[in-house]
Amino acid sequence: MRAAVYRRFGGPDTVRVEALPQPTPGPDDVLIRVHASTVSAADHRARSRDVPRGLGLLAATGIGLLRPKRPVLGYDAAGVVETVGADVTAYRPGDEVIAMLGGHFGGHAEYARVRPGDPIARKPRNLPFEDAVTLVFGGLTARGFLKQADLVVGAAVLVNGASGAVGTAAVQLAAHEGAHVTGVASAANRELVTSLGAERVIDHTIEDFTAEAATYDVIVDCVGNAPFERVRRLLRPRGALLLVITDLPGLLLAPMRRSRTGHLVTADVGTLTAEDLGHLVDLAEAGAYRPVRDRTFDLVDIAEAHRYVDTGRKRGNVVLRLSGDGHTAVAT
Ligand SMILES: NC(=O)c1ccc[n+]([C@@H]2O[C@H](COP(=O)([O-])OP(=O)(O)OC[C@H]3O[C@@H](n4cnc5c(N)ncnc54)[C@H](OP(=O)(O)O)[C@@H]3O)[C@@H](O)[C@H]2O)c1
Repeated sequence: MRAAVYRRFGGPDTVRVEALPQPTPGPDDVLIRVHASTVSAADHRARSRDVPRGLGLLAATGIGLLRPKRPVLGYDAAGVVETVGADVTAYRPGDEVIAMLGGHFGGHAEYARVRPGDPIARKPRNLPFEDAVTLVFGGLTARGFLKQADLVVGAAVLVNGASGAVGTAAVQLAAHEGAHVTGVASAANRELVTSLGAERVIDHTIEDFTAEAATYDVIVDCVGNAPFERVRRLLRPRGALLLVITDLPGLLLAPMRRSRTGHLVTADVGTLTAEDLGHLVDLAEAGAYRPVRDRTFDLVDIAEAHRYVDTGRKRGNVVLRLSGDGHTAVAT
């Protein structure tokens, strides 16, 4: 099979298309013929080892210390079930599915193995693979965090980084629960974030949202510049700070801050399940969740895709197309 492979850490050009053996599914695994994946912040971080302060060693346990532990990136996949292990009953060959491969990666290849416990769901009937795959990375992350906050109708929610993969999902999920959502994004993304359900957008290039008097029941930080000490004043009593991205001190201090202040402060996405993914599929089919797809690249253009994601300015999701580009050139 063709796959995007990186054998050393570094820039976008470390990723090249190679021929690899297909993964062999175990008895509880599902093997997908991948049609689309996304090039996400997780791929950027694993490839470049660009991780928040203090988290280098912890990250190395997952991505490798001296060289990449998982040479094929890709956190998610949308495609058609090729084969299933002997003990799998929920899916069969030919089913159209989306799945989160998570820290095992492997989605940037023509075939990907979904392990037991990896969230998998049928593809929304109304979406092509390239849109369906955008539900996974940002959607599941946003759901994992927001679930912990027990949103009520009318809650005030601020999403910092509202135009990225996680932010666009968080805005939509919070608005769907009846929250009043404020998004923080640049002016160029104001319209996008508003169209997803935000009532107000703060342009971070000219305004500092922490300088305002407004307070929130939930703050979702998808940027990493809203640590507890900076936003504490903005949290209403028993309000939640969901640290989608934070550094080592933020991670270690979260439980203490939670117990001392009565605020829910967490940097843990929690356990993401097939039911969570199924919920996103249901919302998408009902027209209550919209895929946000920025650029789409073919596998042969994988380095370009990484270069674009590295800008840190993508809107929603960057999609990698693994079928239909008809290209056969591989490095062996
Ligand atoms: N904890 C977890 O399980 C988990 C899971 C997934 C992702 N993450 C992390 O969460 C973070 C967000 O992921 P993502 O996929 O959403 O990233 P992303 O899609 O790459 O985010 C890009 C967006 O960030 C916005 N942005 C950049 N600087 C900003 C600022 N100062 N203020 C507001 N917005 C800003 C940009 O908007 P503008 O161009 O409008 O500025 C752009 O739309 C990443 O650091 C990722 O590693 C964590």
